[in-house]
Amino acid sequence: MKQASADFSSCGVMALNIGARYSDSGNRAQSRPSRQINVVLRSNDGVGASAAASSDAMARSIPASGPWLEWQRELDKMTGLDNVKALVYEIYALLQIAHFRSDAGLSSQAHVYHMIFKGNPGTGKTTVARLLARLFQGMGLLTKGHLVEVERADLVGEYIGHTAQKTRDLVKKALGGVLFVDEAYSLARGGEKDFGKEAIDTLVKAMEDYKNQFVLILAGYTMEIDFFLMTNPGLPSRFPIQMEFPDYTPDQLIQIAEGMAKDREYIWLPQSLQRIRQLILQEREDSPFHFSNARFVRNMLERAIRNQAVRLLMQYPEASPGRQELMTLKPEDLTEEKRV
Ligand SMILES: Nc1ncnc2c1ncn2[C@@H]1O[C@H](COP(=O)(O)OP(=O)(O)OP(=O)(O)O)[C@@H](O)[C@H]1O
Ligand SMILES: [Mg+2]
Repeated sequence: MKQASADFSSCGVMALNIGARYSDSGNRAQSRPSRQINVVLRSNDGVGASAAASSDAMARSIPASGPWLEWQRELDKMTGLDNVKALVYEIYALLQIAHFRSDAGLSSQAHVYHMIFKGNPGTGKTTVARLLARLFQGMGLLTKGHLVEVERADLVGEYIGHTAQKTRDLVKKALGGVLFVDEAYSLARGGEKDFGKEAIDTLVKAMEDYKNQFVLILAGYTMEIDFFLMTNPGLPSRFPIQMEFPDYTPDQLIQIAEGMAKDREYIWLPQSLQRIRQLILQEREDSPFHFSNARFVRNMLERAIRNQAVRLLMQYPEASPGRQELMTLKPEDLTEEKRV
């Protein structure tokens, strides 16, 4: 495992070649020739170790206004993920410095932004990918900043040549944005004769053919992604950025539950939060390999909102229950997921 990061950490750095076209308004890309720089980042491990301090320092250096503020706020709203936040701040810093280098007429080389996201379900991989797509667009690196999320079934076809065509079509759809391949290891599960292999080869070719025109993110469970990289030795060096999305602790999940409720203008009673903790602990015990982290919490909240609506209608059949009641989620609104 960690073939790529082990290589980098052996010298204490992670090399990231950055080539960028920058803009004041996010669009200088079109009006100025591409200038590129070669930058060195800390390794993933280094990022993890110094995450808090690093992200604090980075946060301070981000202007208090301007196009970055929106994504910065969005990232800060996410609970935990210190290593991911630090790495995103580092990418931001690299892009800013590349901007200044470009203005100073300094040279640069081709960039590689393709990434690997490793983590269990519901740990924020897709959410962060979507945010990065917009960040890259804001920095003038990608023209559109959209995210195309695909999995094996979208890429792999049924006859010879079909897979390459399907994969190429999706790459084209992703041009100007991010192509996010979920459960990427499933492309390798059938071995040499499987069409999944054809999809991998087509993706690798597209990375060359459409250099700088899209970012490819391969995502999946840590162990399976590590195995996938090990069995495809040509791949790790093409993905210099690896982000690890750890499982959330129960405290973090409760914080996420509070944030999600607040976003929807609901509040949990203190007893409701205790009940949430019980349900989280129980679910983690019952389904240790399928626990879906923040998605479990989101589903629980959405169920609670439905239950509250039914409860309030029964309690107040004639008139509005009033603002406070409309906002409050009680322990009895929290029910377990029905398994069918
Ligand atoms: N740190 C966080 N803080 C707040 N909300 C979060 C956080 N992480 C994830 N979420 C929320 O949890 C839900 C699931 O997240 P997301 O889809 O990004 O997970 P994922 O890692 O892509 O999962 P999967 O591997 O199953 O596709 C989303 O609604 C997202 O907004
Ligand atoms: Mg996802």
